[in-house]
Amino acid sequence: MCGIVGYIGPQHATDIVIGGLRKLEYRGYDSAGVALLGVDRLLTERATGKLVNLERKLHSVEWDDADARGYSIGMGHTRWATHGGVTEANAHPHVSMNGRVAVVHNGIVENAIDLRHELLATGAVFTSETDTEVIVHLVAGYMTAGMLFERAAHATFARLRGSQAIVLLSLDEPDKIIACRIGNAGGVVVGIGAGEMFLASDIPGILEHTRRIAFLENQEVAVIQRSGFRVRTINGGEVSKTVTNIPYDMVSAEKGEYRHFMQKEIFEQARAITDTIRGRVDFATGRVMLDALNPLNGGLLPSKIFTAACGTSLYSAMVGKFLIEGIARIPVEVEHGSELRYRDPLIQSTHAVLGITQSGETADTLAAMAEGREKGARIWSIVNNIGSQAQRVSDGTIAMRAGPEIGVCSTKTFLASIVDQYLLACALAQARDGHSGASFALAQQLSHLPSLMSQVLDKNSIYAELASEFHDREHFLFLGRGINYPIALEGALKLKEVSYIHAEGYPAGEMKHGPIALIDERMPVVCICIKDAVYEKMLSQVEQVKARGGKVIAVATEGDTEIAKRADRVMYVPVTHPLLSPVITAIPMQRLAYEMAVRRGCDVDQPRNLAKSVTVE
Ligand code: G6P
Repeated sequence: MCGIVGYIGPQHATDIVIGGLRKLEYRGYDSAGVALLGVDRLLTERATGKLVNLERKLHSVEWDDADARGYSIGMGHTRWATHGGVTEANAHPHVSMNGRVAVVHNGIVENAIDLRHELLATGAVFTSETDTEVIVHLVAGYMTAGMLFERAAHATFARLRGSQAIVLLSLDEPDKIIACRIGNAGGVVVGIGAGEMFLASDIPGILEHTRRIAFLENQEVAVIQRSGFRVRTINGGEVSKTVTNIPYDMVSAEKGEYRHFMQKEIFEQARAITDTIRGRVDFATGRVMLDALNPLNGGLLPSKIFTAACGTSLYSAMVGKFLIEGIARIPVEVEHGSELRYRDPLIQSTHAVLGITQSGETADTLAAMAEGREKGARIWSIVNNIGSQAQRVSDGTIAMRAGPEIGVCSTKTFLASIVDQYLLACALAQARDGHSGASFALAQQLSHLPSLMSQVLDKNSIYAELASEFHDREHFLFLGRGINYPIALEGALKLKEVSYIHAEGYPAGEMKHGPIALIDERMPVVCICIKDAVYEKMLSQVEQVKARGGKVIAVATEGDTEIAKRADRVMYVPVTHPLLSPVITAIPMQRLAYEMAVRRGCDVDQPRNLAKSVTVE
């Protein structure tokens, strides 16, 4: 999704802005641009494709020394197209007709059509198909009519409908950047330095320069100058902001010895889960301690939990339903973040709404949480991105502790969020049952998990062999049952996201009601067939696939010789407690998808059209 970076200070803005955009590349984008304010000059450059195309253009700019020193205010943008195709004309920044105001924008101006008609009637000439361009014409129009930059900006923001983040520069007042946040679609963080200030859509964009961060909330406008910043509401009310110190391990955001971030992030999962568990379970007794999420509210557990999430986090939530219902015996409803608020859900004040989101910024998940808040439920979240919006609007949060996830496709945050729900389930059960009950022994099971994961991560050859055998297939089917059905869904999602092979995940027992029609000798079927309560049932699905000529790739329990006789290929995993088995069976899915994508020459870390955090509806 769109990324924004801004800088004002003594240094040349270009390097800081481009460096920041590079840190945000993982979010996904299709074009990029910068605006730089110099001595009486507003310079913009834009390019489609990767940042390197923009950099090439910037290299060919003829800077004279005075210019180079002068360009100490700038902003940059990576665009993920919503309104208008991927063209240079649609890339941001957009500049007013008089060349004096520039804007970058993340989100959607919902009333853009009406505003465009109004502006066209007053003689505005549009040079793009974007909704964003109305903003810059409005600001410039108000300034032409006599308003100063800040007033014109406020007047414009008051007219915009929809969720968005907006950043403006003006040649008329070349000592400030104005940024605004409306709704949830675009975050704006202000970074405080010494004699210099930064701004970005997400913390990683500026974290290299400062850890002192202030977050803009809905309807807030920041005016950022070299010496500091001040914030008002769009209506003009004073706002005082607190500054947060962000902890961050920069080293873990580098690829190191790995070829891709996705590969690195798959391989660091055992460590991520160790961190997730650390200090949260007393292994001597099995007691679970969740500092930042007290399951009891006024002494009562929620009578029901609605879990809202999108993409991979949704499949994590589906696993979580088995965990929370199985361990804590509290009913769970899992909802697509994008659907919950459109069906008037029966959420009550005795319920909890749990948002699962690695980024903490997914607009649909945030909207579902807001719906829960409105209906009086307590709001919980599981997030990886500390300080994100989801955390800030929650009554309680479990941090994933997976470390920065840069690959667009979630891997380690998927497993971390499953383990967090396991911890939550145990904590809920313990809060209700006191000192006894199965949850204590179940929590102790977590101590084995990292080493079991390492066993799956240590096996190497099978995945590349599978990729070499199956990389030319057009379709894949993934089957699982029970708690491993969501893992079949995730296996299919991972494969389609990174290798662009069409894949479907299905509950194995439903295969005979449809997907069986697709099976022939060109169709690989990945069957999660571990030794659990549904093992025999899965074997019979394997037989049904084989009877129609399909190729079975099984995920099976170490030592299972029976499956080896029936399946074409087997990816073995160690014996695990059934409730923790998804954490283990997901790893072969990730590794298979990764190897397939590499073999097909795909852009593993930034697949086409995808974004790391989707901040629009
Ligand atoms: C995007 C990403 C997915 C991710 C989903 C939800 O679609 O490409 O990998 O699972 O958003 O993201 P969240 O940050 O809410 O977990």
